[in-house]
Parts: sequence; C-alpha cells; structure tokens
Amino acid sequence: DAGKGEYDHYMEKEIHSQPTSLANTIEGRVEDGTVSFDSLEPGTFENVDAVQFVACGTSYHAAMYAGQLLRAAGLPTDVIRASEYETAAGPVDEGTLVVAVTQSGETADTLDAVRTAAGHGAQTLAVTNVVGSTAAREADNALYIRAGPEVGVAATKTYSSQAVTLTLLTQRLAADVPEATPAEDREDLLETLQDLPQHVDTVLETSRARVLAREFMNSTSYFFIGNGFGHSVALEGALKFKEITYEHAEGFASGELKHGPLALVTDKSPLFAVYTDGSDDKTKTNAIEAQSRGAPIVAVGPADHPLVDVADAHLSVPDTHPVWAGLLANVQLQLVSYHAATLLERSIDKPRNLAKSVTVE
Ligand code: G6P
Repeated sequence: DAGKGEYDHYMEKEIHSQPTSLANTIEGRVEDGTVSFDSLEPGTFENVDAVQFVACGTSYHAAMYAGQLLRAAGLPTDVIRASEYETAAGPVDEGTLVVAVTQSGETADTLDAVRTAAGHGAQTLAVTNVVGSTAAREADNALYIRAGPEVGVAATKTYSSQAVTLTLLTQRLAADVPEATPAEDREDLLETLQDLPQHVDTVLETSRARVLAREFMNSTSYFFIGNGFGHSVALEGALKFKEITYEHAEGFASGELKHGPLALVTDKSPLFAVYTDGSDDKTKTNAIEAQSRGAPIVAVGPADHPLVDVADAHLSVPDTHPVWAGLLANVQLQLVSYHAATLLERSIDKPRNLAKSVTVE
C-alpha cells in the first residue's frame, strides 16, 4: 500500500509523522510569547467565566490536559465525558464556553453534548482535525489541530496535536478571560514548545519500546499509572494498549493504585509509571508498592527522577517543560502498544469491534 510508504502500518507511519504534524500544529501560533489563532478574533473569550470540555476516548484524555492547565489558571473548568453530559454537566449559561474536542468532528455523543449546551445558551468551540466537519460547522467557532489525515483507528498523532492545540488555547484563555491568571512559567512553556518536534524525533530514534514489549509479552495485565499530566497520559497509554493488543490494560491515578487495583498486581502485571518532572513522589511511592508485590516497573519520563534508579526499565524522554514531557512519555507508550500488537500479530490499523469515528449514541 503506497499510502503507508516505508511503514508496515498506518499507525506506525502516523506515530513517526508526529515531528512533522506537530510542527504544522504549532506553526504561526506563538509569536513573542503571545498565542494567536487565525480563526479566533481577539476578544472572542471576553465574556467567558467557566469552561467545559466535552470529548470521548482519546480526545477526552487530551482534554484532561487542558483542564488541569485552566484550573491552575483559576478558571472554573470541567472535563466531561460527552456520553455523560446530560447528567454530569453542572450549570451552563451564556458565560460557559463548551469546547468539543473531537478529531473527526463527527462523534455522535460529542455533537449531542454541544447541541445540549448550545440550547442552554453556552458559547461553543470545536477543536477538530477535519475542516468542514459537523462539529466545526455547528459550533460558534472552530480551531483546527492541523495533524493531517489519520487512517489508523487508534488515534496517535491527532492526540499529540490536540494536546498541543488545547494547551495553546488554555494560554489564550488565560490571557483573555478577566478572572484567569496566566501561568508564571508561561514563557518557558511557549519557548520549549518550539523544541517539541525535535524531542519527539529523539524519542522515536532512541526508544527501547520494542525490546520491552517483547520482554513483557506473556503478561496477564498491563497497568499504567501517573499523577497530574501523567494521569491523563497513563489513561491514554492503557486505552491505546487495550485497543490494539486486545490484552487487559488499565490506567489509574498513581495514588489510586492502593485503593483496589493493587489486588490485581502480580509478577505477570508490568506497571508503566509515567511522570513529567522530578517532584512526582506519588508515582514513585506507588510504583514501588507494586514492585514489592513482584510487578516489573517501567519508569516513563525524563532521566532526572529517583524512580529511574529503582525501576526495572526506563523509557526515557528529553528534559523539557512537564507539559511536553507528558506528551513525549505518551509517544513512548504509543510505541510500546504498537510493538506489542505487532508481536501478537493483531490487526493494527483496524482493531476488532472499533471504528475510527462513532456516529451513533
Ligand atoms: C472512537 C475512536 C477513538 C476516538 C473516539 C473519539 O471511539 O476509536 O480512537 O478517540 O472515537 O473520536 P473523536 O473523533 O471524537 O476524537
């Protein structure tokens, strides 16, 4: 298949195209420490006093990223699974900005949530990969993630481009919304973003994911834990793994491991511990708990973390801002899932029972 070029699968190609797709996502959107989007006029968010992200699957995990950043900026923010919107959304009115995160722009649950919100007078924004999609047409405004077409059912490059676009959106909101306070490390965040495509390249060139996927091939379960940004990456790592390997995989907040999941931990349940900076003690402590019950531990994050010394293996990411370190850790986990699935000879680009875009509720 010419479309796959030198790669065996579209998913592999799409993982490897992330340095380029991310460069496209970023291009022209950050200048002199200011974030701007062609499609969003200055002042678009002046009347916003609360934000709700609605999304499904992988897009929900990207939205969790943005949720954490906006809450840190002091803006009331919820991240809601679109299928739960009817019961999980709190008060919604003209001051609420509802952001639909959907790479296809066609997911029925997400469209339904946006329509419900619009019915209550909310302002709506679609963050999507597809120009002219239903979400882009129906929302008040659209913001494109510019990842290029994604063929593999399991989302990879669209997740990375969503997380970057949403992070930039949070910086724009923090600047525009009177109640919000821009992050103190905003300058560092925006500056280090320029290096992200290069860092993804480094991860792709140096990853030991294939070796680890082979080592852990005969496991019964695969666990992923993380704290903060690492939590959303852990959830995404587990989702990707189960989607394409058909093996049992679960993601947890690091601190939740001891409140139940620990009962499942054995020497046949490797645990991927995701962290984004050296200060994440919770992930270390809980990973060590699992290790003392026999689980092999893989530290996934920058080299400068005490977990690296005690872990059984390390999937390394370059030193950078914690927000980007999480995305780089996710690239490592994409590779782990991909290699595990190839070793198991799964139908990588079209996993059983799954669809690229789910247009029924
Ligand atoms: C399907 C796909 C997932 C995707 C989800 C949301 O379930 O299999 O990979 O994350 O839909 O898709 P969206 O197009 O709304 O981002």
